[in-house]
Amino acid sequence: MRILLFTGKGGVGKSTVAAATALRTAEAGLRTLVCSTDPAHSLADAFDDASLGDEPAPIATLGRGTLFGQQLDARARLEESWGEVREYLTALLDWAGAGVVEAEELAVIPGLDEVFGLADIRAHAESGEYDVIVVDCAPTGETLRLLSFPDVARWWIEKVFPLERQILAAAGPVVRSLLDIPVPTHAVFADMRRLSENLIAMNEILRDRERSTVRLVMNPDKMVIGEAMRTFTYLNLYGYLTDAVVVNRIFPDEVGDYFAGWRKVQEEHLELVRSAFAPVPVLRAPFFDQEVLGAEMLDRLADALFGPAELDPAAVLYDSLTQELQVDEHEARLRVALPFASKADVKLKKIGLELVVAVDGQKRTIMLPDALAGFRPTAATLEAGELEVTFDGR
Ligand SMILES: Nc1ncnc2c1ncn2[C@@H]1O[C@H](COP(=O)(O)OP(=O)(O)OP(=O)(O)O)[C@@H](O)[C@H]1O
Ligand SMILES: [Mg+2]
Repeated sequence: MRILLFTGKGGVGKSTVAAATALRTAEAGLRTLVCSTDPAHSLADAFDDASLGDEPAPIATLGRGTLFGQQLDARARLEESWGEVREYLTALLDWAGAGVVEAEELAVIPGLDEVFGLADIRAHAESGEYDVIVVDCAPTGETLRLLSFPDVARWWIEKVFPLERQILAAAGPVVRSLLDIPVPTHAVFADMRRLSENLIAMNEILRDRERSTVRLVMNPDKMVIGEAMRTFTYLNLYGYLTDAVVVNRIFPDEVGDYFAGWRKVQEEHLELVRSAFAPVPVLRAPFFDQEVLGAEMLDRLADALFGPAELDPAAVLYDSLTQELQVDEHEARLRVALPFASKADVKLKKIGLELVVAVDGQKRTIMLPDALAGFRPTAATLEAGELEVTFDGR
């Protein structure tokens, strides 16, 4: 069983690359499901199959049974599973003095809809019906962050839920009569419990690095790469494995003089991609002469991505986290995989949140997490293919 998650900035080609990857694994005989939570139905467009809906179904236009598609309605999932809590929070915030409109907005937890979308992925993973699940739900930073806190969820399950009866019995009538504060119902507790269980289970599935990996999609544009670098850092720190990055829409050689300048700039940006993500493999796809719609174009895209290096799209293409960070009050240690470097002469430069490491003729650019904004690099050592940088936060 493999779970492949595609993420990246808006419009870079996540859905298209996910669709092309799913098509290829299905062609290899693997029972593949491709799911999206995008309300814009981009999977339906990519496969030219308007019948794709909220439940998994074979993709009709391919006429074969091994590729299934699902266009999840994450909003509806959120309403079903979280409606009670949202209503309760809205009432509580309204009681606390927020206006009704603000209360409704505050009661929405960013990234939560995708967590509920992912709950379906969990059910599919456990069903045993699929060999590969391709997820095009572009989990946002917020979603990944929520998923990275199973300890908080565990705390609720162990400490709060067992006391539900007492909390409701004790706090209910007293608080209600004194302050008229809204008190949560059993249904609110039930929703909270379901969410906590989901977070724990999804976190376990996503951190199972033999099974689940992230593929980070980007275009060869500076800002897009910058955002991908930031995402990459957080994925590493949350313990989610990125096993490939995809640079989509690279101008091909035959693009002509008008775009020659662009091509040159893109080449420089590809160098930045290498320096930021190595040793994670970089898959590339050209800017095609038309949109990537329908099986034939998806096949061309898959050829470009996996053909040159004859990669197996379902394989784990890289198998370890490339960065690890440990932050104490005044000191931080960052460990970075540099498997090909040997010389211990390391040069460091930190500009804002970007750390540039020059070692043995290699340059690596690492986007540091916000927590290290006030820290300065003080020392670096290289041992057994691993670079360790120490930071001082005083
Ligand atoms: N390599 C390519 N060459 C030409 N067109 C492409 C290429 N990759 C994607 N496209 C086209 O770009 C458009 C956007 O792609 P897609 O919907 O996959 O992006 P996305 O990252 O999923 O966007 P969103 O963030 O809105 O979900 C589509 O019309 C797609 O056909
Ligand atoms: Mg999309």
